Amino acid sequence: MCGIVGILGREPVADRLVEALRRLEYRGYDSAGIAVLEDGTLKRVRAAGKLNNLTARLAQANLHATIGIGHTRWATHGGPSETNAHPHIAGNVAIVHNGIIENYAELRDRLAARGITPESDTDTEIVAHLINIALNEGMKPKEAVLHVLDELRGAFAFAIIFAGHDNLMIGARRGSPLAVGHGEGEMMLGSDAIALAPFTSRITYLEDGDVVFLTREGFEILDEERRHVIRPLQFTQAASLLVDKGGYRHFMAKEIHEQPDVLGHTLGEYLDFGTGRVKLPDMPEGLDLATLERMTITACGTAFYAGMVGKYWLEQIARLPVEIDVASEFRYREAPLKAGGLSLVISQSGETADTLAALRYCKAQGQKVAAVVNVPESTIARESDLVLRTYAGPEVGVASTKAFTCQLMVLAAFAIGVARARGHLDEAREQELVHALQQAPRLVVQALEQEERIAAIARELAHAKDILYLGRGINYPLALEGALKFKEISYIHAEGYAAGELKHGPIALIDENVPVVVIAPRDALFEKTVSNMEEVRARGAKIVLITDEAGAAEHGAKAFQTITVPAADTFISPLLYAIPVQLLAYHAAVFLGTDVDQPRNLAKSVTVE
Ligand code: M6R
Repeated sequence: MCGIVGILGREPVADRLVEALRRLEYRGYDSAGIAVLEDGTLKRVRAAGKLNNLTARLAQANLHATIGIGHTRWATHGGPSETNAHPHIAGNVAIVHNGIIENYAELRDRLAARGITPESDTDTEIVAHLINIALNEGMKPKEAVLHVLDELRGAFAFAIIFAGHDNLMIGARRGSPLAVGHGEGEMMLGSDAIALAPFTSRITYLEDGDVVFLTREGFEILDEERRHVIRPLQFTQAASLLVDKGGYRHFMAKEIHEQPDVLGHTLGEYLDFGTGRVKLPDMPEGLDLATLERMTITACGTAFYAGMVGKYWLEQIARLPVEIDVASEFRYREAPLKAGGLSLVISQSGETADTLAALRYCKAQGQKVAAVVNVPESTIARESDLVLRTYAGPEVGVASTKAFTCQLMVLAAFAIGVARARGHLDEAREQELVHALQQAPRLVVQALEQEERIAAIARELAHAKDILYLGRGINYPLALEGALKFKEISYIHAEGYAAGELKHGPIALIDENVPVVVIAPRDALFEKTVSNMEEVRARGAKIVLITDEAGAAEHGAKAFQTITVPAADTFISPLLYAIPVQLLAYHAAVFLGTDVDQPRNLAKSVTVE
């Protein structure tokens, strides 16, 4: 999603703004730009497409200003063109914006009534005009911004500079994240600490509703009620965490191969090595896992599929009824939730707008909220009662890989902890399950060893127009995840189905041109899934069977191709079967030459609804 940076510095800022924007590229964008204040005047350079287009233009611009703002834009209002790229300038105001202004049409009509026609199709430019009008009416910049913020509905983060004000930058956040960076004699704004990592590790995260006024000497924050507040200064490790491909061709490849390591790290945080049992953080006051009647899980995309796997574990092992929904639906469903119950949200970024809204809905219903998150400073982490952290490290590829398996690892440990608390797990069985989890990193290494063979199969799948993924039971979410991964980076249509649902409709799609990927470990449901495989085979479909050695020995011959995953306790099969589906998607996309790490139309962190 869009990325913001602002620097109020002592050195020329144009190159530094671009450097920061490069670190935000992982969020996904389709145009970029900067605006600086040079000799009291606003100057702007923008370009559609990737940052290299912007740097080519900047090379001609010869800017030496020491204050500026920059932006990578992921199109919402208006297509990805130079005219719609940020920053937007109206009179003496330059602004960059993440988020969506919901009352945009009404505000635009107000401008029209004054005879003002915006240049772009964006909601952002409207805000620039409104602030400029307030300035023209005699307000000072701070007053003008506060005045206009009161008029806006929707989600936003802004960074704003003003012609004639060389020592002022204003930031504001409602919904979308924004952080203040503290340099030596300079101040910064960024949509996350990663953007500012080259310049500072000292960060203050703004809270929802905050407005910040920066000068080179310092800053002041007003909260939503416009009272002066102090937000804590934090030291981040973002600088040490990013950002290179470590010799891999893509971040996604690097992140797939990091899984043995980050899974081990994540599990280590949830294990008591002395006893071989699960160790969970202290529960928030008022939450008793033993007497919990039900639980709700909400998330989006891949995190949602991790939640689906979590539901199987929690219901099967902990006997806890779990309701799960995608956050974008859940937030408007007005689901009745009993106060004192537990809601779990799952999010890699911790900033996904729908998941955050679901969290807030649950809190308003008196729920305790636990969050499985990868970014500990994120809004979701900060607003939750209990943080169950994944230790995947920064995930840059838009297609989630290592964050997914780390979410699974945390959910597995959580399910074990809940089962124990509810008296459904004796010590010996718990140790067995923990032992199975401990095997996961080693078995993932073995699964990765199949990469060359999987790449060859992926190249065949890359010729298809449609692909079906089938799975049953706990591997049904893996079929959904496999299809999502495949379509998002290869742009080939792929759907995941519960294998048993096939004859209720989707089987009509099957012919010799539709490959079917069947995810079927040799577990209690294996024979049933194989029956479904036979049904599609009989209709000419080419089968790619992903199974273990026992499954391959029994039915591998029926498949066009078989991918063998190491045999393991069925409890951890989702962790292992994630690897071949990730590799299939990755290698098909590489073969097709798509932008693997930043696929078209997608953003890493979806901070708008
Ligand atoms: O940051 P989050 O985990 O909340 O993101 C949720 C989804 O947007 C994300 O998982 C998305 O589906 C990925 N691109 C899938 O690979």
